Amino acid sequence: MLRSKIIATGSYTPERILANSDLEKIVDTSDEWITERTGIRERRIARKSEATSDLAYEASKNALKQAGLKAKDIDLIIVATVTGDMPVPSTACILQDKLDAKMAAAFDINAACSGFIYALSVADAYIKNGMHKRILVVGAEILTKFTDWEDRTTCILFGDGAGAAILEATDGERGIISTKIHSDGSMWNLLHTPGGGSKHPTSKETINKKLHFIKMKGNETFKVAVRTLESLVVETLRENKLKPSQLSLLIPHQANLRIIQATANRLGLPMDKVVVNLERYGNTSAASVPIALDEAVRTGRIKEDDYILLEAFGGGLTWASALIKW
Ligand code: UT7
Repeated sequence: MLRSKIIATGSYTPERILANSDLEKIVDTSDEWITERTGIRERRIARKSEATSDLAYEASKNALKQAGLKAKDIDLIIVATVTGDMPVPSTACILQDKLDAKMAAAFDINAACSGFIYALSVADAYIKNGMHKRILVVGAEILTKFTDWEDRTTCILFGDGAGAAILEATDGERGIISTKIHSDGSMWNLLHTPGGGSKHPTSKETINKKLHFIKMKGNETFKVAVRTLESLVVETLRENKLKPSQLSLLIPHQANLRIIQATANRLGLPMDKVVVNLERYGNTSAASVPIALDEAVRTGRIKEDDYILLEAFGGGLTWASALIKW
């Protein structure tokens, strides 16, 4: 059976660390509040000169190195991001140029925090129908350049980073078993960046009104996220006739430790079967799942034949899962 298999992963996070104690000096917040409500302790901040494609480039180089491949071996690049280098062209095209991946077609996907899993589902379909053989899938974000540093309800949450995975066509039982993607556009305004698009093109007014920054109704988003992710993971396992006890690892989107714990509880999974790194990176949107996946691979937490479940929830609203037999 033709499947797509993740043959290598890579990630990159900027060096500069912003701790909760640093945020105490910027807005009316406390390390205690942030840690208790989110689980986040620090996050990485990209340099002024760094663009999202630079982070994507470093993560991709790491994945190519792990795979023992050259960039010209890749025939498609998909970048999931909501903080691309510029509106046109796609960040994937800029990444293709930086990598010198001449044989690859390239495009971006916008599904906010679910973007990496959406991109995996597209890559998986292209591989299964024979259109592409080796695909580089990247989740990369510089959220901190779209963050309102005067808004304590959002600025404590976000961080920058990138993660990458290389998918290859393979025969056999191992690889991506299933992907599920969902959206509910009726709640688009729970999490959005209103300015800079065709609805509110950039103007002095949009800047004065801070429309170019990310806005989130956190508490409402939280409630939908918990409800939606709980049913998503249960359905994903049921449809694939797997019991939660057969899962070796859950790799969730890293938005809030309480959301992650609720999802794990719903499956009856102990937390040692859940990858959590948000205390170090905060919420990196589309980058969070591939960074966590790469850390799990590199620290030996994933073994051959393990069942791994990826899940994410984000703006759109969107939510998605991917079940993998490693
Ligand atoms: O990644 C994509 C999807 N995103 C998510 O899934 C994020 C979902 N949301 C969340 O993670 C949480 O809702 C937050 C962490 C954003 C907020 O936690 P919460 O428990 O939902 O808090 P809240 O918004 O209900 O606010 C509780 C209180 C409020 O004060 P009052 O009205 O009770 O007096 C806020 O003003 O906490 C206050 N507050 C803060 N206090 C100190 C809000 N932000 C802060 C802050 N420091 N940074």
